[in-house]
Parts: sequence; C-alpha cells; structure tokens
Amino acid sequence: MPWRDHPDSYAVWVSEIMLQQTRVETVIPYFEKWMNLFPDIVSLANADEQVVLNAWEGLGYYSRARNLHKAAKIVAEKFNGKLPRNLDDLRSLPGIGRYTVGAIASIAFKMDEPTLDGNLRRVFSRLYDVTEFADSPVGEKILWDLAAQNLPKGKAGDYNQALMDLGATICVPKNPRCLLCPLMELCKARENGTQELRPVLRAKKASPQYVHAAGVIIQRGRVLLNQRPAGGLLGSMWEFPTARVAEDPVKELVKVINAAYRLKVKRKEALGVIQHAYTHFKVTVHAFLCEAVSIPKDKNLKWVKLGELNEYPMGKVDRQIAEKIK
Ligand code: ADE
Repeated sequence: MPWRDHPDSYAVWVSEIMLQQTRVETVIPYFEKWMNLFPDIVSLANADEQVVLNAWEGLGYYSRARNLHKAAKIVAEKFNGKLPRNLDDLRSLPGIGRYTVGAIASIAFKMDEPTLDGNLRRVFSRLYDVTEFADSPVGEKILWDLAAQNLPKGKAGDYNQALMDLGATICVPKNPRCLLCPLMELCKARENGTQELRPVLRAKKASPQYVHAAGVIIQRGRVLLNQRPAGGLLGSMWEFPTARVAEDPVKELVKVINAAYRLKVKRKEALGVIQHAYTHFKVTVHAFLCEAVSIPKDKNLKWVKLGELNEYPMGKVDRQIAEKIK
C-alpha cells in the first residue's frame, strides 16, 4: 500500500478518502495517478474541477472527489497549504467526518486517536459480541468507546490500520477465518458462536429498479452531452441525454427526452443495453442513436468532438455508451 509510511499527511488524507468506499486493490492505481497529477494540496486546489473528476472516474461516489477538491482550496487559503493538526479544524473540512479525522490524526500525525470504519465496526462487534444495532446511536457509542479503550499510546496509527487489515482479510463479513485469527482467544463472538450474527445491522431496503432511455445524437463528428447539476448523484459530470421511462424505452424515448431536455429527436438504431447498480437504485439503460430535429440553446448541453470524449468525466453507464460509439 503506497500510502503506508508516506511522509506526507496529504497522501494519507487522499488514501483515506479513496478507501472509504473502495477496496485497497482498486484504490492503489488511482492513488498513484492522483499523486502524480496533484502532488500536493496547492496543486489540487488549483486544478480544474473537470480534471479532478476525470482522475476520480471509475472510483464512484464522486462527491468524495468534489469535497477533496473543495477542502484543498480551503487548506490552501486558510491553512497555508498544510493539513491542520487540530482535530476541530480537520473536522471542519468538507468530506472529513469523524472516521477520517481519527484516521488522519492517528496515521499521519501519530496522535492517540481512535477511528471506526466498516471493518473496525465488525471487528469490535465480534470481539465484544456487541448485541446493539451497530448502526444505531447507542451501538455507535459503544463501538467508538471500545475503539478508544485499548488504544496503545504512541501507536494508534499502527493499531487502527492493523485492525483495518484484520477486518479486510480475516474478520471478513461472511465466513470469517477464525482459525487463522490472532485474536481468536480474545473473541467473545467466537466463544459464543455468534460471529456470523455480528455486527447486528438493520435490514437494508431492497433498491428499486428503473428503466432509462438514452439518446446519442451525433452531428458532423460531434456528440451532444449534458452536464449534470453540481449537487447530487454524479454531480457536474457529463451524460448522454437520458430519462426514465415507465415501461417501453422504444416507444417512450422521444417523449421523455423532450420532456427532460426540450430536445426534439428522432429515434434511430439501438446501441445496446447497460445495467448498473447505484447505492440506492438499479438501472437498465437502453441507448439509441438519435437524429436531432431541434436542439435548444442550453448552457448545460454541449457538442463535444468524438475524439475528446475521454476528457469529459462520466459515470460508468455513460462511459460504456461512449466506448460503444467510438
Ligand atoms: N481502509 C481504510 N483506511 C485504510 C488503511 N489506512 N489501510 C488499510 N485499509 C484501509
């Protein structure tokens, strides 16, 4: 892991944000590319948002990149380009919550601070056989207290990371490898045979399934893209004009694209079907080549050269469509 023993607290920060929702193997190449593109906080602060989102493309949860960028601007202006060592100042930065404060403080600044991510929640829930819901306020408090209780003075960063590694490799969610675990003798859940039942989590709601129709409109070597609004899902990223249909994408495409973008199009041949799961819903996207009948002047719509599609940050679905038309 290239961020381990990295001398720069910025590198620890970047790695912790990337690792929040993403596995170590996936993060490594993104981390290395990021550190080459934006080697310090000031270079990140001065970078164009589109370049920042482009570097994050494929990692998902793009608000992480936007917050990192916003926070870098604040650090550049308010803290002289150096990540503050004060916990409240750290916590005030966009995208830095209690977990990230604990991780940065303990790993980068060698402070005696606990932290609690998904792996640590699971490890502590099992070690102490915690029966409270791990995602309830009471459960949260119990787990944070446990994380703080055993912190070895002067070695909190090693301790926190060792438990993250234990959670990622041995104390895994399904079929934990208890016989290999160095903490087997200490583990209350193992003693009680409840390791598969910990942590106790509330049942997740099933995510709804939507059908979308996407229109790929090409004229004179350029394709029409829409930039999504800055907040929310895939904020500030680019997409082919896309809208949800009730039932039949073939019949409804022209109507829904017109309603969503005031674009008048004719549907031509099908380009393919793409499935994708977001955090809270799943989509099946039916993409069609379309011919423009009339295109409104809209500041979010842009004719982009086919050869320049890679410079426009997109989510996975739209990148797959872009690959099809190349
Ligand atoms: N997951 C989150 N932070 C991590 C770290 N520093 N090392 C390993 N896995 C992690």
